[in-house]
Amino acid sequence: MSKGQLLLEIRNLEVSFDGFKANSEVDLDVLEGELRFLIGPNGAGKTTLIDAITGLVKPSKGTITFANKDLLQRREFEIVRLGVGRTFQKANVFEELTVIENLDLAASFRLTLPKLFRRRKTVMPEVLEALDVVGLPDYGDRPAGVLSHGQKQWLEIGMLLVQDPMLLLLDEPVAGMSKAERTKTGELLQFIAQTKTLMVIEHDMDFVRRFSKKVTVLCEGQILCEGPIEQVQANPMVQEVYLGRAHDRRSQEEVKA
Ligand SMILES: Nc1ncnc2c1ncn2[C@@H]1O[C@H](COP(=O)(O)OP(=O)(O)O)[C@@H](O)[C@H]1O
Ligand SMILES: [Mg+2]
Repeated sequence: MSKGQLLLEIRNLEVSFDGFKANSEVDLDVLEGELRFLIGPNGAGKTTLIDAITGLVKPSKGTITFANKDLLQRREFEIVRLGVGRTFQKANVFEELTVIENLDLAASFRLTLPKLFRRRKTVMPEVLEALDVVGLPDYGDRPAGVLSHGQKQWLEIGMLLVQDPMLLLLDEPVAGMSKAERTKTGELLQFIAQTKTLMVIEHDMDFVRRFSKKVTVLCEGQILCEGPIEQVQANPMVQEVYLGRAHDRRSQEEVKA
């Protein structure tokens, strides 16, 4: 695959939970090399969309094609092997293991058994590289449990990088981070986008404006609009969704910011 080619193609996707449509009529194209943001109010169906791509939930309608391969008939681990990596809203690191051990464990998933036993004494080069890329070189031998919330998110991104996926799907990676950590994360995402494709769920419009060119807005399970962030923010329907909902105060403040 090369930059600008269609990497992920979703057509007429519907995910239904006991008749409730968490996603419906979703058409989405992501090109190789994009850093795409997926925004929308709570309950819009953003996580469900990532769950559908990664095989965690089974859609009731539609198609998902990744690198020209149909994903719907595949199981979670097969989708990972094809090159789709994801993070969850809550960080999933092994707190008792060191940062390097966490990365090492994530990296070992692609090794064959003989290699797995042979390599134990040395740290794999991709592990050291990931440690550096995510900005944790001084923490390699520390237990992951001592990391701050933001650092754990970076470690998780590192755990994806060592698996060398083509597409990274990140579910609210900057939620709960300090301003400085957010900026660092935005820069990290842009760095990763030089060689990989990313789709990132995020609420903070200010953050999205700083780091992305293209945004997809999801609302009540459907795509409301898509395009450059300036265009999306100027869209009256998006303003209604973000400003018109009294219960979604976080988004309101962020649109005003
Ligand atoms: N496993 C599930 N079973 C039933 N309903 C679900 C399940 N997962 C998500 N939902 C519902 O689908 C809707 C979309 O959820 P979600 O994709 O998590 O939204 P978002 O990530 O945009 O906040 C919500 O109303 C949620 O309650
Ligand atoms: Mg979510």
